[in-house]
Amino acid sequence: MAKTLTPEELKQKLTSATPLLLLDVRRAEDRDKGGPALTGATWHDPAHMEVWAKDIPAGSEVALFCVRGGGVSQSVQAALESRGVEARYIEGGIAAWNEAEALSVDPDVQLLGAQGVGERGQHHAVQVASIALVVARGQKEPVDLELVRRGALLHDLGKVRDTGNLHGVTGAELGRELGLPEPVLACIERHVRHGVPEAEAAGYGLPVRDYAFACLEERIVSYADKLADILEAGLAESLADARARLPEILAANPALSKDAATLGRYVTSWRMLEDKA
Ligand SMILES: [Fe+2]
Repeated sequence: MAKTLTPEELKQKLTSATPLLLLDVRRAEDRDKGGPALTGATWHDPAHMEVWAKDIPAGSEVALFCVRGGGVSQSVQAALESRGVEARYIEGGIAAWNEAEALSVDPDVQLLGAQGVGERGQHHAVQVASIALVVARGQKEPVDLELVRRGALLHDLGKVRDTGNLHGVTGAELGRELGLPEPVLACIERHVRHGVPEAEAAGYGLPVRDYAFACLEERIVSYADKLADILEAGLAESLADARARLPEILAANPALSKDAATLGRYVTSWRMLEDKA
């Protein structure tokens, strides 16, 4: 059972018919100096959890958030779960929510809509961009965050023309027609099957050329796309869990790992991006 939810998952839940209790559990002092809560949230002081937690009926579904989705959220989530309440917290807290809100109105998302990418595709784009930015900010080497954001938001542009392995190539073609910069086009073109080397291109039905990643930003975009797939498939309890266990999760799920060579490329990226020896 997932213990967290991403801002995009929460947004979809809030627009669905399932009743959801939205709790602001920021500490009193953080709430006073922090920004406004999410619409519809009620504040519950985490310092007095034992007083109010018993009033939340077992079986109800709760989404909660604090400032950054750290210790406060985790302790409230654990306490509610132990009482039989299905509670999840926003990973990254209200900061991540605000970032996703900003991403969802990014001109690149409007461009997706104008090109015929539906709401689902737009949600996925925002989800991948949110994750990619988290991964990018954690790198020791400098990363071009603007390129990561644009590459992630636009990575599936080609799906309006092609949903198979060619959607990277067709997406880059479409992007070129639209005048997008070359580094963004490279993120789009190379994300499919995670940076395919020239020798393997024909085997995937791709025009023969090298799709290996030329920079960290391209790698991060494609890696974040796979993390989003893992979360969407419910195979990890949080983004942190997906990042910790990516090789084992992919190895156990051929639908996500695709083939041995693709799996190998993901594991290489996991080592690089998660700083594993
Ligand atoms: Fe894709």
